Amino acid sequence: MAFESFGDWIRHLDAAGELIRIPQPVATELEITEIADREMKKPGGGKALLFEKPTINGVVSPFPVAINTLGSWKRMAMSMGAASVDAVAAELGGLVKAKPPGSMKEAMKLLGLALDLRHARPKTVSTGRCKDVVHRFDAPPSRTEPWPAAPDWRNPATLDTRPPTLLNIPILRCWPLDGGRFVTLPCVVTQDPDTGARNLGMYRIQVYDDRTTGVHWQLQKVAARHGRRYYETGKRMPVAIFLGGDPMFPFAATAPLPDGLDEFLLAGYLRKKAVEMVKCETSDLQVPAEADFVIEGYVDPVEPLRMEGPFGDHTGYYTLPEPYPVFHVTAITHRRDAVYPATIVGIPPMEDFYIGAASVKLFLPVFQMNFPEIVDIALPAEGTFHNLVFVSIRKTYPMQAYKIMHGLWGMGQMMFTKYIVVVDHDVDVHNTSEVLFHLFADTDPQRDSLVTRGPADVLDHSTTQIGIGSKQGFDATRKLAGEGFPREWPPLIRMDPAVRERVAAILGGKA
Ligand SMILES: Cc1cc2nc3c(=O)[nH]c(=O)nc-3n(C[C@H](O)[C@H](O)[C@H](O)COP(=O)(O)O)c2cc1C
Repeated sequence: MAFESFGDWIRHLDAAGELIRIPQPVATELEITEIADREMKKPGGGKALLFEKPTINGVVSPFPVAINTLGSWKRMAMSMGAASVDAVAAELGGLVKAKPPGSMKEAMKLLGLALDLRHARPKTVSTGRCKDVVHRFDAPPSRTEPWPAAPDWRNPATLDTRPPTLLNIPILRCWPLDGGRFVTLPCVVTQDPDTGARNLGMYRIQVYDDRTTGVHWQLQKVAARHGRRYYETGKRMPVAIFLGGDPMFPFAATAPLPDGLDEFLLAGYLRKKAVEMVKCETSDLQVPAEADFVIEGYVDPVEPLRMEGPFGDHTGYYTLPEPYPVFHVTAITHRRDAVYPATIVGIPPMEDFYIGAASVKLFLPVFQMNFPEIVDIALPAEGTFHNLVFVSIRKTYPMQAYKIMHGLWGMGQMMFTKYIVVVDHDVDVHNTSEVLFHLFADTDPQRDSLVTRGPADVLDHSTTQIGIGSKQGFDATRKLAGEGFPREWPPLIRMDPAVRERVAAILGGKA
């Protein structure tokens, strides 16, 4: 199901009873976070919120703010026009099963071909609603000009009120110690200068002033690789950041697709309609014609990196300032009825748990093609994505759990995983209590764990050096004789099924 705009998606949520409208003025500085955090912490993720009168330094913004629109299993499924995320995953898995691939790379290539066959390839159109209002900026400051002073967020006099600039879009200051305002659901388009391949990624944007921002593409991400090629050649790197449009755009931007596979293909497949792309005003990059906002600009490799952060991050801690490239705005365009999409991250559970967990469900069939013994994978909310992975396997030979740990650490963004717990096929990895029971009961710590080294999430504050760290795997499966386990493995206590049925008949309810 395709949505024409973020507003269209919001109306759909409203009609389904999934939206709470907040008509009172609420400050983009911390207050929206406090309300959204309370909602996201409700069981199942709460409702989506629409702030109709967000204020910027006390002034009501012309654009409403929507938040937590993907923050539940129900809304994730609705955004895909499906009954459940599992149903979408099953269909996607079926697409690639016709010809079993020999490797992960081949699996992803087949996935790309399969998506293409479903007419998901993006189309170029001449214009679109994202250009209802166009604001081109004057020539950017010279490369040697010193940094302009950061605006004082408490002083309305520093706000530029001419529409639209970075200072009058209702961009949130999320947490008290944040270094400023951050665009938290930005879809960032870059291009490989060598191959022309496009990438869509979600990398947060810190507003420095009305026309410069930080862009937080981390070391191992695709846009950072593109950036390095521009730094090598010294050429300016065009970057386009868009917000809103179909909710499958931000979802696809976060999906861990391999470098070179166009995320717009995935978005087109999931919304069952090819994405219409329009050329930017000030570069040759293309963005969805139906986006709500487009912020165009460039990164200049000649310019030194600038400190970005602190930012209250999805790790539950503030990420401390680190140097990142500076993005210069050359144009901002938007729909007349634009809705500003936002999220907040922080101590879990938050909206991003559902976004990440839906990705894991969609890509499970791809993992299973490489590792057929994998039954299920879960990234529990407490692990904030990269800290903890639970995986269940159908174990048939000795040391298979270790093969899976090493295999996962070698697959794309799974490289960041700090702890992997492997359990048997009959353990429900989505039930953290059940997994912990087996971890504690079924392991001898020294024998059943392994510590190794590798790349770490740059957001991990606990590693001694940024971006590198250690990993631990636990084999919580039943031990086999072939693994040197000489004793008999005892049976797990389970009631006789016939008794359960008789008791269900007496008490009512399920057996
Ligand atoms: C809400 C949200 C915010 C994110 N912010 C960042 C970020 O600031 N920097 C980053 O490198 N990744 C961030 N990510 C993760 C990336 O979007 C994700 O790793 C994506 O697959 C990167 O795309 P790429 O593989 O094309 O580089 C964020 C994810 C979510 C859900």
